[in-house]
Amino acid sequence: MMRIPICKPDIGEEEQEAVQKVLASGHLAQGEEVAAFESEFAEYLGVSNAVATINGTAALFVALKALGVSKGTKVVTTPFTFVATASAILQCGGVPVFCDVDEKTFNIDPTRLEDILKQDSDVRGIVVVHLFGLPCAVEEVGFLARKYGVFLVEDCAQAHGALYCGKKVGGFGEAGVFSFYPTKNMTAGEGGMIVTNSEELARTCRMLINHGSKKRYIHEMLGYNFRLTDIGAAIGRVQLRKLDKNNQRRRENARFYDRHLSGTPGIETPFVPEGYFHVYHQYTLRVKEKRNGLRDFLLAQGIGCEVYYPLPLHQQPFLQKIGKTYHLPVAEKLCKEVLSIPVHPLLSDEERWEVVESIRNFLAGNEHKFVELVKEENF
Ligand SMILES: Cc1ncc(COP(=O)(O)O)c(C=O)c1O
Repeated sequence: MMRIPICKPDIGEEEQEAVQKVLASGHLAQGEEVAAFESEFAEYLGVSNAVATINGTAALFVALKALGVSKGTKVVTTPFTFVATASAILQCGGVPVFCDVDEKTFNIDPTRLEDILKQDSDVRGIVVVHLFGLPCAVEEVGFLARKYGVFLVEDCAQAHGALYCGKKVGGFGEAGVFSFYPTKNMTAGEGGMIVTNSEELARTCRMLINHGSKKRYIHEMLGYNFRLTDIGAAIGRVQLRKLDKNNQRRRENARFYDRHLSGTPGIETPFVPEGYFHVYHQYTLRVKEKRNGLRDFLLAQGIGCEVYYPLPLHQQPFLQKIGKTYHLPVAEKLCKEVLSIPVHPLLSDEERWEVVESIRNFLAGNEHKFVELVKEENF
């Protein structure tokens, strides 16, 4: 366990009481808590439907399946994301088509996306990711989706509460999906949510997560058991109430890092285009040289940090078997440069100072002196 962990869920008495209440009620599986969580989440986002699921991967899989992704369906997505974005496409039988990202925002590049849509009329959909909590150019992508007649799904697993021009991400396309894994901006233990403004899509998703059934023991389609529990939903409801406050603290931490790290030779702090409200699921630096050296140095001092992600999806061993060889230079370069540092809402003022000073020391070449000092303190 790191002294200053990279992620830490903000779980307190309120969550404990909410779970106790569910346990005492005896209704542990899907029930009133899930229904309340769904309607509160939909209201928070300003969408008309929300369907809770067991995790974010299941949410993405079900949304894609409900949108008709099946054997051979081509869906364009980003190579610079967590593996689940592409595995959900593959789990439906679909084929991910990787589009390189923008070097500054790390998100899908609309110009390259249009080139793909122009060249390949077999593409049926787009899955964008709002990576690390920064919205992608979602309006531009939505425009392209409509122009080329393909669906748009937003993978918002890392972007609860992020805004694009004042509007929350999740409601720009046919569906948005969220994850409530404990490292995320809000958690339900595990859990996920599909949001959509289409009643029909919501109905299909709800059936898919519940054995293809609307009416008890009548199964209209092949389905799954991907239901969230009332225990998870009870945690999620409390977390949703804390989300804006916790996102605000993440943003304050990010502003602190921006102030004290930007301009430091050797690193670049995150770029946020005007009109984009970043919720800093991660605060990710670009380290031009010795990225792994900085990572090892911070870890040796008990400062959690992580490379999200060391390998782009098109270079993942199992994804190389899909047949097409890609060269996506921006994503490949970013994987060699990125390093995420603690930005979570429980980070104290002293801890963030320590993170800044350690990074500055390393970049100034004082790391040996610093390591010796730390060692001495330990003895
Ligand atoms: C971008 C992205 N998509 C999908 C997922 C999958 O969510 P889960 O872990 O809840 O299945 C995650 C997180 O883990 C993620 O970061």
